[in-house]
Formats: sequence, C-alpha cells, structure tokens
Amino acid sequence: MLRNKHILIGITGGIAAYKICTLIRDFKKSGADVKVICSPNALNFVTKLTLQNLSQNEVYEGEFTPRNWKPEHISLADWADIMLIAPATANTIGKIAQGIADNLLTSVACAFSKKMIIAPAMNVNMWQNESVQNNIKILEARGVDFLPPERGFLACGYSGKGRLCSLAKIYNAVNEALNYSDILKGKKVVITAGGTIEEIDPVRYISNYSSGKMGFALAKSAYYMGAEVVLITTKAFEAPFKIVKVKSALDMQEAVNSEFDTSDYVIMAAAVADYRVKERSEQKMKKENNDKLTLKLVKNPDILAELCKHKRAPHPDPLPKGARENDCVIVGFCAESENLLENAKAKIEKKGCDYLVANDISRKDIGFGVDENEVTILDKNGNTTKLEKASKVRIARKIWERIIN
Ligand code: CTP
Repeated sequence: MLRNKHILIGITGGIAAYKICTLIRDFKKSGADVKVICSPNALNFVTKLTLQNLSQNEVYEGEFTPRNWKPEHISLADWADIMLIAPATANTIGKIAQGIADNLLTSVACAFSKKMIIAPAMNVNMWQNESVQNNIKILEARGVDFLPPERGFLACGYSGKGRLCSLAKIYNAVNEALNYSDILKGKKVVITAGGTIEEIDPVRYISNYSSGKMGFALAKSAYYMGAEVVLITTKAFEAPFKIVKVKSALDMQEAVNSEFDTSDYVIMAAAVADYRVKERSEQKMKKENNDKLTLKLVKNPDILAELCKHKRAPHPDPLPKGARENDCVIVGFCAESENLLENAKAKIEKKGCDYLVANDISRKDIGFGVDENEVTILDKNGNTTKLEKASKVRIARKIWERIIN
C-alpha cells in the first residue's frame, strides 16, 4: 500500500521511542522507504543499530556529517513525502512551532513544506501546560496534524493523558495522508462552518451552539487532499487556506454565492439561523420599564436549498464562452434531536442536495462543540452510510472518501 512512498520519521527523547521500532517495521512491510532522524536525546532510549536495521537505512542525527554536497536538512526534507514526528516531546514541539532549528530534526522540520504528522508523548502536566497547547495551536494553524496522546499509566509514574497514541492510529494517519494526498488536486472546495450570528443590537445577538469544528476538519482534510479550499465561517480559525469570516446568514449567503460558480464541491456544514431580527436596533436597547420584550423575526434565506435550485436551473445553450456547466457536488448537514433518519430523508428531498450528513445532537458525546462525531451520510438515491464514532478529523476524511467515490 505504501510502495515507493518516502516516510521520514523524527524520533525525540521520550520513553515511547522504543515503540517506533514496530512502526518502522510496519511501514517497511507495506513497501515504504523509511529514513529516521533522531534528536540528540532519542538515542538514550533506543539504539541506532536497531533503527538502522529496521529501516534498512542509515540513521541521521548530526547536522555536520554531510554525505553529499547538499546540506542534510534540505536533502532529507526534499526526499520525504511525509514527515512523522513520534514520539514528540514538549521541547521539540515548542522549537518547531517557534522556528528554532538547533539540531538536525528541528532543522528538517523547519525546511519541510509537505504533510507533517506529530504524535506527542509526555507527562500529563506537561501536556496540559498552556505554552505546549499554544505551540500545538500554532502548528495546527500551519496545517500540521496532531495525534493527541491517550490516557493511561505513564512511565513517569503519573496516570492521565500523555502516553503515545496507538501505533495503529499513527500508521493509519500516515497511510491515509499518503494515499489521499492529491485526490482533490485541481478541485475547488467551499465549506461553511459555525453558527451564524444574527444581531439584535450592537451588543446582543441570536446564535446557536455550533463550534465549526466539523466544517474546519472537512476543510483541512480537503486541503491535504490537494484541493483549493475556501472556508466561509463565523468562527476564528487560522489555516493555510483561504478563510472568509462572516457573521450573519445573509453575509454567509453572499460569500457562498460569490464562490459557487467556480466550485467543484460545496459543503454547508454551518448551522445557519433560520430567522433574523426584522429590524436590528442601531443603539443598545434599554429595558426601561418593560417587563416583556417582543422581537420580530423574519425568515433567513435557505442558502443550501437555493444553491441546489440554481444548480438544477437550465443552462443557456450554448454556454457563454469560458463558462462551464455547473456539476458542483452539494453537501448539506442536518442536526436533529429526534427521528434522525426520518427527518434527514425528508430534508435531502426538500433541499435537493447530492448528500446530507446527519448528526444526532441529542447525544452529549458527539456533535456540537466536542471533538468527536458519529454521522450517517444519505445520498439522493436513498442510500445511507453510517460512520461510527471517531474524531471529527477522521470523520471528515471518511465523509470525503464517500463523496469522492
Ligand atoms: N441551511 C441553509 N440555510 C438555512 C438553514 C439551513 O443553508 N437558512 C443548511 C445548513 O447549512 C445545513 C442544512 O441546510 O447544511 C440543514 O440545516 P438544518 O438546520 O438541519 O435544517 P433547516 O433547513 O434549518 O430545518 P429545521 O431547522 O426545520 O430542521
């Protein structure tokens, strides 16, 4: 499965380093070419000879023992299709986030512009440290994927979140990233995310609990599959692709419509408010002596339904020069608190989209605001595909697999 793929593994100084030996063997068995770079402390935990034998390549550690004219940190970065850092210590994560390149591993990371996956492992208190978490956010915003540590008994004697995630998770993440790396190349993808904000006055608004995490995961996933991505969102995200920040449903509609004609996929993952206040007050509303307040609401346009209608509208024949028939794949989301499938089936018909991803919001462990989800994908022919509970990042990948295939 990984034949001819070049995997560069960075190992840092943590006890979980010994586990990476098994991973190297698994990648080799799948046909990959593996090279290993060790941070100065990694070799305190695992021997060079072991890594060399398993990877069938020499192990890289020093910056000043070049084997050819090209500096090693550049030739290794050029060679690799993907860089995996596992286990990653707080120290190495911090250096990479801040652009510090003081050893071969951090120098390669600094020069590396392709897909990077980091699997941290450390003491639970270090993992929760604010600086560590901030560094992770910085790297995630640059497109690095993190495989968070798992809970359990830690080698330092503590128990909690900190141990390296399972090797199967790391293997799958690398495998998927390599196998899907350019499946959306040349395609434009527009994704909406987050709940819209309908202002009442300058300080108050109507909105909903949508965090935008699912939409963001879909956008990131598409980006790694080579797509040109536009994320239209009410939330503050940072990413290496275009982000259009909007507030209300009307703003969102304008932004989506302006991208639609050149898009190959539109995914409406945003929770669009169905109503807005009829007249937003210019000034902060005073309560004065009123015991009651009545707000008049008017219906917002249904962005998704209107896109689908527009797509189905007959094209001029012949098409104007440079124009193309709109064959954009349109995907809706639906959040339901009861009768999930029944409501979803009615909704896909009513809206006319190609796929509808149905979400059960009555459960606290999935959906709104949390990092995991479990969804059912419906298509317009009545087929359903259930995706079992997993991280939103993984669910995003699976949704793309379903849509693309
Ligand atoms: N949607 C939209 N414009 C709206 C409302 C919803 O584009 N004004 C889109 C959402 O982004 C989502 C899909 O329609 O992709 C379904 O949203 P949902 O809130 O589940 O459905 P509603 O149409 O709002 O129906 P209801 O609230 O009655 O369940």
